[in-house]
Amino acid sequence: MTDKLLIAVWGNPNSGKTVTAVKLAQAFAARRKNVLLLCCDALCPSVSTIAPQAVSKHSSLGELLSLPVLTQEELLRYTLPLNTSPRIALLGYKKGDNVFSYASYDRDRAVDLLTLARHLADVVLVDCASYLSADPLSAVALEVADAVVRLHSCDLKSLMFYASYMPLIGDARFRRPTLVSVLSNVKVEQDSREYIQVFSNIQVTLPHLSMLEQQAASARLLDELSGKEALDYNTSIQQIMRLLSSQNQQKPSKPAPSSIVLPFGKIAGVLQRIWSKRGEDK
Ligand SMILES: Nc1ncnc2c1ncn2[C@@H]1O[C@H](COP(=O)(O)OP(=O)(O)O)[C@@H](O)[C@H]1O
Ligand SMILES: [Mg+2]
Repeated sequence: MTDKLLIAVWGNPNSGKTVTAVKLAQAFAARRKNVLLLCCDALCPSVSTIAPQAVSKHSSLGELLSLPVLTQEELLRYTLPLNTSPRIALLGYKKGDNVFSYASYDRDRAVDLLTLARHLADVVLVDCASYLSADPLSAVALEVADAVVRLHSCDLKSLMFYASYMPLIGDARFRRPTLVSVLSNVKVEQDSREYIQVFSNIQVTLPHLSMLEQQAASARLLDELSGKEALDYNTSIQQIMRLLSSQNQQKPSKPAPSSIVLPFGKIAGVLQRIWSKRGEDK
C-alpha cells in the first residue's frame, strides 16, 4: 500500500459514514499506520461522540479553517491525539458548532488543509458531510482524495439522495482513481439484491451489527468489535481495506470510470414493485 493515503468516506445521510470511518481508522491503525480522522460534518459534529473523554481539550476545525494563516504547527495544535488509540488522532467540529459559527473559507483553504493533513499522517480519513453545498471541505476532499468509500443505505431515501446527488458530482474532477462502493448497515430482513442492482457498482456489503449500534449509542465507537457476532462485519471492513490497497497499488493509473449515472429505469422499477406490493397488501 502506498505510504500516504487520503480517503474520503461519503454517502447519504445516516448511511454510516462516521461509524465506518472510525472502523477503517482502527483497521489502518492495526496495520501500524498513523491515521488522522478528519470529521468535517459541521451539520452534525461527531468528535465528541467518538472520543467524549477528550472533549475538554478539543479545539474546533471551524476555528482552524478561519485562521489568517494555516500552518503545519497550527494543524498539529488543533489535532486531538487519543490516549486510548495512540495511532489515531481526531480533528473536527466541536459540540454546539453550526455552519454559522465561523467565517466562511474558500476552496484554496480547503485544499491547503488537506495538503497539510497529508504530511501529518500515513492515512487521512475524511468523514465527509452528505450535503456538499453545506461543506466545502467535504466537496474538496471528494475531488482530491486518492480513494472514495461511497456508502449507500438499503432504503428508498438513499435511492432518492443518489438520484438527486449523482448529477451534481458527475464532473470529471470527482472521478477518483479508486472508488469503493458499499451497501451499508444492511439488516438480515432487508432484501439487498434489488438495491445492489440499482446502485449497480456495489462491491462490499456491510451488515447491520447490533454491537456497533450500541457502540454508536454509547459513544464507544473506539472500542474494538470482537467475537463471533462481529465476524461478518469485520470481514467486510477487511474487504474494503483490500480494495483500497489493491486498487491503490496501481497508482498512478487512469481514473477509474465512475458509474455516476444512476439507472433511473431501475429506480422506477423498485418503486413500482413496492407500490404494487402495497396494493396487494390492502
Ligand atoms: N453496520 C452498522 N450496524 C449497526 N448500526 C449501524 C451500522 N452502520 C450505521 N449504524 C447506525 O446508524 C447510525 C448512523 O451512523 P453514522 O455513522 O452516524 O451515519 P452518518 O455519519 O452517515 O450520518 C449509527 O448511530 C448507528 O446506530
Ligand atoms: Mg456522520
